[in-house]
Amino acid sequence: MTVAYPRKLNNAMSARDILTQVVQQREIHMITLNRYRYSEQRSCKDLTNMIELMDGKSPELIKDLSHHIADEARHAMWLTDLLVDLEVPVGNPPGTSYIDEFERLLDSDTMTPEKSWDDFMISSLAAINVTEKRGCEYFSAHIYALKQAPQTEENIRIRETIERILPEETGHVRWGNRWLGKIADQSPEHRRKVDQAKRKYAAIEQAAFESGMDIMAGAELRRLNNLLAVAKEMPLWEQPQYLMERLPETLISPSLQMTRIQLAQRVIKDDPKMLIEKFIPMFFSNLNGIQKPKDKNASQIKETV
Ligand SMILES: [Fe+2]
Ligand SMILES: [Fe+2]
Repeated sequence: MTVAYPRKLNNAMSARDILTQVVQQREIHMITLNRYRYSEQRSCKDLTNMIELMDGKSPELIKDLSHHIADEARHAMWLTDLLVDLEVPVGNPPGTSYIDEFERLLDSDTMTPEKSWDDFMISSLAAINVTEKRGCEYFSAHIYALKQAPQTEENIRIRETIERILPEETGHVRWGNRWLGKIADQSPEHRRKVDQAKRKYAAIEQAAFESGMDIMAGAELRRLNNLLAVAKEMPLWEQPQYLMERLPETLISPSLQMTRIQLAQRVIKDDPKMLIEKFIPMFFSNLNGIQKPKDKNASQIKETV
Protein backbone atom coordinates (compact mmCIF):
# COMPACT_ATOMS: atom_id res chain seq x y z
CA MET A 1 0.00 0.00 0.00
CA THR A 2 1.28 3.45 -0.92
CA VAL A 3 2.17 5.68 2.00
CA ALA A 4 2.31 9.31 0.91
CA TYR A 5 3.82 11.92 3.21
CA PRO A 6 4.26 15.65 2.64
CA ARG A 7 7.77 16.65 1.58
CA LYS A 8 9.77 19.58 2.88
CA LEU A 9 9.67 22.94 1.10
CA ASN A 10 11.93 22.60 -1.97
CA ASN A 11 13.29 19.53 -0.16
CA ALA A 12 15.28 21.97 1.93
CA MET A 13 13.57 23.67 4.88
CA SER A 14 11.82 21.47 7.39
CA ALA A 15 8.67 22.49 9.23
CA ARG A 16 10.82 22.78 12.39
CA ASP A 17 13.25 25.14 10.59
CA ILE A 18 10.38 27.35 9.51
CA LEU A 19 8.43 27.35 12.78
CA THR A 20 11.56 27.99 14.85
CA GLN A 21 11.92 31.26 12.95
CA VAL A 22 8.21 32.07 12.94
CA VAL A 23 7.82 31.97 16.74
CA GLN A 24 10.66 34.46 17.14
CA GLN A 25 8.75 37.32 15.52
CA ARG A 26 5.38 38.07 17.07
CA GLU A 27 3.77 39.59 13.99
CA ILE A 28 4.67 36.61 11.81
CA HIS A 29 3.67 34.23 14.58
CA MET A 30 0.18 35.79 14.80
CA ILE A 31 -0.24 35.76 11.00
CA THR A 32 0.61 32.05 11.05
CA LEU A 33 -1.94 31.35 13.79
CA ASN A 34 -4.57 33.27 11.87
CA ARG A 35 -3.80 31.13 8.80
CA TYR A 36 -4.38 28.01 10.94
CA ARG A 37 -7.68 29.50 12.13
CA TYR A 38 -8.73 30.23 8.55
CA SER A 39 -7.84 26.68 7.40
CA GLU A 40 -9.74 25.05 10.26
CA GLN A 41 -12.80 27.20 9.54
CA ARG A 42 -12.62 26.50 5.80
CA SER A 43 -12.36 22.73 6.30
CA CYS A 44 -15.80 22.79 8.00
CA LYS A 45 -17.22 24.23 4.78
CA ASP A 46 -15.40 21.70 2.55
CA LEU A 47 -16.45 18.69 4.64
CA THR A 48 -20.05 19.95 4.72
CA ASN A 49 -19.88 20.20 0.93
CA MET A 50 -18.78 16.55 0.77
CA ILE A 51 -21.75 15.47 2.92
CA GLU A 52 -24.11 17.35 0.60
CA LEU A 53 -22.56 15.71 -2.47
CA MET A 54 -22.99 12.29 -0.82
CA ASP A 55 -26.69 13.05 -0.44
CA GLY A 56 -27.46 10.30 2.06
CA LYS A 57 -25.37 7.54 0.51
CA SER A 58 -22.99 5.76 2.92
CA PRO A 59 -24.59 6.94 6.22
CA GLU A 60 -21.66 5.49 8.17
CA LEU A 61 -19.21 7.84 6.41
CA ILE A 62 -21.64 10.78 6.74
CA LYS A 63 -21.75 10.11 10.48
CA ASP A 64 -17.94 10.13 10.67
CA LEU A 65 -17.74 13.30 8.59
CA SER A 66 -20.22 15.10 10.83
CA HIS A 67 -18.00 14.28 13.83
CA HIS A 68 -14.99 15.44 11.82
CA ILE A 69 -16.71 18.79 11.14
CA ALA A 70 -17.43 19.20 14.86
CA ASP A 71 -13.70 18.67 15.58
CA GLU A 72 -12.60 21.20 12.94
CA ALA A 73 -15.19 23.73 14.15
CA ARG A 74 -13.83 23.32 17.69
CA HIS A 75 -10.25 23.89 16.46
CA ALA A 76 -11.37 27.06 14.66
CA MET A 77 -13.18 28.16 17.83
CA TRP A 78 -10.11 27.59 20.08
CA LEU A 79 -7.86 29.49 17.68
CA THR A 80 -10.39 32.32 17.25
CA ASP A 81 -10.80 32.65 21.04
CA LEU A 82 -7.02 32.73 21.40
CA LEU A 83 -6.46 35.36 18.70
CA VAL A 84 -9.32 37.62 19.77
CA ASP A 85 -8.13 37.44 23.40
CA LEU A 86 -4.63 38.40 22.19
CA GLU A 87 -6.22 41.29 20.21
CA VAL A 88 -4.93 39.89 16.92
CA PRO A 89 -6.93 40.56 13.70
CA VAL A 90 -8.91 37.56 12.46
CA GLY A 91 -9.49 38.71 8.88
CA ASN A 92 -9.03 36.54 5.81
CA PRO A 93 -5.27 36.05 5.34
CA PRO A 94 -3.81 38.08 2.45
CA GLY A 95 -1.59 36.75 -0.30
CA THR A 96 -1.44 33.34 -1.90
CA SER A 97 -3.72 30.93 -0.06
CA TYR A 98 -2.69 27.29 0.37
CA ILE A 99 -6.33 26.16 0.41
CA ASP A 100 -7.31 28.08 -2.73
CA GLU A 101 -4.28 26.74 -4.60
CA PHE A 102 -5.04 23.19 -3.39
CA GLU A 103 -8.61 23.53 -4.67
CA ARG A 104 -7.43 24.99 -7.98
CA LEU A 105 -5.21 21.96 -8.53
CA LEU A 106 -7.91 19.40 -7.70
CA ASP A 107 -9.51 17.68 -10.67
CA SER A 108 -13.17 18.51 -10.18
CA ASP A 109 -14.33 15.56 -12.34
CA THR A 110 -13.32 12.96 -9.79
CA MET A 111 -14.46 15.11 -6.87
CA THR A 112 -18.16 14.71 -7.69
CA PRO A 113 -20.13 11.46 -7.39
CA GLU A 114 -21.81 11.83 -10.82
CA LYS A 115 -19.21 9.91 -12.87
CA SER A 116 -18.11 7.24 -10.42
CA TRP A 117 -19.05 6.85 -6.77
CA ASP A 118 -15.86 4.90 -6.00
CA ASP A 119 -13.61 7.50 -7.65
CA PHE A 120 -15.39 10.26 -5.75
CA MET A 121 -14.96 8.50 -2.41
CA ILE A 122 -11.32 7.61 -3.03
CA SER A 123 -10.40 11.10 -4.31
CA SER A 124 -12.19 12.91 -1.51
CA LEU A 125 -10.72 10.75 1.26
CA ALA A 126 -7.19 10.88 -0.24
CA ALA A 127 -7.42 14.69 -0.56
CA ILE A 128 -8.58 15.08 3.07
CA ASN A 129 -5.94 12.63 4.30
CA VAL A 130 -2.94 14.40 2.76
CA THR A 131 -3.92 17.84 4.08
CA GLU A 132 -4.46 16.39 7.57
CA LYS A 133 -0.91 14.98 7.42
CA ARG A 134 0.48 18.43 6.57
CA GLY A 135 -1.50 19.89 9.48
CA CYS A 136 0.01 17.34 11.89
CA GLU A 137 3.52 18.06 10.60
CA TYR A 138 3.09 21.81 11.19
CA PHE A 139 1.34 21.57 14.55
CA SER A 140 3.95 19.21 15.98
CA ALA A 141 6.79 21.42 14.63
CA HIS A 142 5.03 24.44 16.14
CA ILE A 143 4.83 22.78 19.57
CA TYR A 144 8.51 21.84 19.31
CA ALA A 145 9.47 25.44 18.37
CA LEU A 146 7.40 26.88 21.24
CA LYS A 147 9.12 24.58 23.74
CA GLN A 148 12.47 26.06 22.65
CA ALA A 149 11.15 29.68 22.69
CA PRO A 150 10.95 31.99 25.76
CA GLN A 151 8.24 30.67 28.10
CA THR A 152 6.09 33.81 28.10
CA GLU A 153 2.46 33.63 29.18
CA GLU A 154 1.43 34.18 25.55
CA ASN A 155 3.68 31.46 24.14
CA ILE A 156 2.49 28.97 26.77
CA ARG A 157 -1.14 29.72 25.93
CA ILE A 158 -0.48 29.26 22.19
CA ARG A 159 1.33 25.98 22.81
CA GLU A 160 -1.48 24.67 25.03
CA THR A 161 -4.03 25.50 22.31
CA ILE A 162 -2.07 23.67 19.59
CA GLU A 163 -1.44 20.76 21.97
CA ARG A 164 -5.20 20.36 22.33
CA ILE A 165 -5.68 20.33 18.55
CA LEU A 166 -2.83 17.99 17.49
CA PRO A 167 -4.14 14.67 18.93
CA GLU A 168 -7.45 15.20 17.12
CA GLU A 169 -5.60 15.88 13.85
CA THR A 170 -3.57 12.66 14.19
CA GLY A 171 -6.91 10.93 14.84
CA HIS A 172 -8.16 12.37 11.52
CA VAL A 173 -5.12 10.95 9.69
CA ARG A 174 -5.72 7.49 11.22
CA TRP A 175 -9.42 7.74 10.35
CA GLY A 176 -8.60 8.54 6.69
CA ASN A 177 -6.07 5.67 6.54
CA ARG A 178 -8.70 3.27 7.89
CA TRP A 179 -11.32 4.29 5.31
CA LEU A 180 -8.85 4.20 2.42
CA GLY A 181 -7.61 0.78 3.62
CA LYS A 182 -11.19 -0.50 3.79
CA ILE A 183 -11.88 0.61 0.22
CA ALA A 184 -8.55 -0.82 -1.01
CA ASP A 185 -9.43 -4.21 0.50
CA GLN A 186 -12.50 -4.49 -1.75
CA SER A 187 -10.54 -5.63 -4.85
CA PRO A 188 -7.12 -5.35 -6.54
CA GLU A 189 -8.63 -2.66 -8.79
CA HIS A 190 -9.77 -0.67 -5.76
CA ARG A 191 -6.28 -1.04 -4.25
CA ARG A 192 -4.68 0.27 -7.45
CA LYS A 193 -7.05 3.25 -7.48
CA VAL A 194 -6.39 4.05 -3.81
CA ASP A 195 -2.60 3.90 -4.33
CA GLN A 196 -2.81 6.10 -7.40
CA ALA A 197 -5.04 8.63 -5.61
CA LYS A 198 -2.62 8.79 -2.67
CA ARG A 199 0.26 9.62 -5.01
CA LYS A 200 -1.79 12.13 -7.00
CA TYR A 201 -3.12 14.04 -4.01
CA ALA A 202 0.30 14.04 -2.35
CA ALA A 203 1.65 15.73 -5.52
CA ILE A 204 -1.25 18.23 -5.54
CA GLU A 205 -0.78 19.03 -1.87
CA GLN A 206 2.97 19.49 -2.32
CA ALA A 207 2.39 21.85 -5.25
CA ALA A 208 -0.15 23.89 -3.26
CA PHE A 209 2.08 24.00 -0.20
CA GLU A 210 5.14 25.16 -2.15
CA SER A 211 3.19 27.81 -4.06
CA GLY A 212 2.08 29.33 -0.77
CA MET A 213 5.67 29.50 0.49
CA ASP A 214 7.62 30.23 -2.67
CA ILE A 215 7.27 33.69 -4.16
CA MET A 216 10.90 34.13 -5.23
CA ALA A 217 12.08 34.64 -8.80
CA GLY A 218 11.48 31.55 -10.91
CA ALA A 219 8.51 30.47 -8.75
CA GLU A 220 6.36 30.22 -11.88
CA LEU A 221 8.71 27.63 -13.38
CA ARG A 222 8.84 25.66 -10.15
CA ARG A 223 5.02 25.74 -10.10
CA LEU A 224 5.02 24.44 -13.65
CA ASN A 225 7.30 21.60 -12.56
CA ASN A 226 4.94 20.76 -9.72
CA LEU A 227 1.95 20.87 -12.08
CA LEU A 228 3.69 18.40 -14.38
CA ALA A 229 4.40 16.17 -11.37
CA VAL A 230 0.65 16.13 -10.58
CA ALA A 231 -0.28 15.37 -14.20
CA LYS A 232 2.18 12.46 -14.23
CA GLU A 233 0.09 10.77 -11.52
CA MET A 234 -3.01 10.84 -13.77
CA PRO A 235 -4.06 8.52 -16.58
CA LEU A 236 -2.47 9.59 -19.88
CA TRP A 237 -5.74 10.65 -21.52
CA GLU A 238 -6.63 13.01 -18.64
CA GLN A 239 -3.28 14.82 -18.62
CA PRO A 240 -3.65 17.28 -21.57
CA GLN A 241 -6.96 18.75 -20.39
CA TYR A 242 -5.79 18.99 -16.80
CA LEU A 243 -2.64 20.83 -17.86
CA MET A 244 -4.35 23.14 -20.37
CA GLU A 245 -6.92 24.26 -17.80
CA ARG A 246 -4.26 25.15 -15.24
CA LEU A 247 -1.30 26.37 -17.26
CA PRO A 248 -2.33 30.06 -17.64
CA GLU A 249 -2.93 30.58 -13.91
CA THR A 250 0.28 28.68 -13.10
CA LEU A 251 2.48 30.77 -15.36
CA ILE A 252 0.78 34.15 -14.88
CA SER A 253 -0.55 34.21 -11.36
CA PRO A 254 -2.05 37.58 -10.32
CA SER A 255 -2.05 36.58 -6.64
CA LEU A 256 1.66 35.74 -6.83
CA GLN A 257 2.43 39.15 -8.40
CA MET A 258 0.31 40.90 -5.77
CA THR A 259 2.09 39.04 -2.97
CA ARG A 260 5.47 40.09 -4.38
CA ILE A 261 4.42 43.74 -4.66
CA GLN A 262 3.04 43.77 -1.10
CA LEU A 263 6.25 42.15 0.16
CA ALA A 264 8.51 44.68 -1.60
CA GLN A 265 6.37 47.55 -0.25
CA ARG A 266 6.59 46.11 3.24
CA VAL A 267 10.36 45.67 3.07
CA ILE A 268 10.83 49.22 1.69
CA LYS A 269 8.68 50.67 4.49
CA ASP A 270 10.31 48.69 7.31
CA ASP A 271 13.95 48.66 6.23
CA PRO A 272 14.97 50.05 2.80
CA LYS A 273 18.59 48.93 3.35
CA MET A 274 17.40 45.35 3.69
CA LEU A 275 15.75 45.55 0.25
CA ILE A 276 19.15 46.04 -1.41
CA GLU A 277 21.33 43.95 0.88
CA LYS A 278 19.13 40.94 1.56
CA PHE A 279 15.78 40.90 -0.21
CA ILE A 280 16.94 41.37 -3.81
CA PRO A 281 19.79 38.81 -3.61
CA MET A 282 17.43 36.40 -1.86
CA PHE A 283 14.74 36.99 -4.47
CA PHE A 284 17.06 35.91 -7.25
CA SER A 285 18.94 33.22 -5.33
CA ASN A 286 16.60 30.43 -6.44
CA LEU A 287 17.40 31.20 -10.07
CA ASN A 288 20.96 30.08 -9.40
CA GLY A 289 19.70 26.78 -8.07
CA ILE A 290 20.25 27.76 -4.44
CA GLN A 291 17.64 25.82 -2.52
CA LYS A 292 18.31 26.68 1.10
CA PRO A 293 18.39 30.38 1.92
CA LYS A 294 21.69 31.27 3.56
CA ASP A 295 19.92 33.99 5.49
CA LYS A 296 17.68 32.40 8.07
CA ASN A 297 15.34 35.42 7.76
CA ALA A 298 14.31 34.33 4.28
CA SER A 299 11.09 32.60 5.21
CA GLN A 300 10.34 35.18 7.87
CA ILE A 301 10.31 37.87 5.23
CA LYS A 302 7.92 35.87 3.11
CA GLU A 303 5.60 35.35 6.07
CA THR A 304 5.33 39.08 6.81
CA VAL A 305 3.12 39.77 3.78
FE1 LIG B 1 -8.34 20.77 12.60
FE1 LIG C 1 -8.32 17.71 10.88
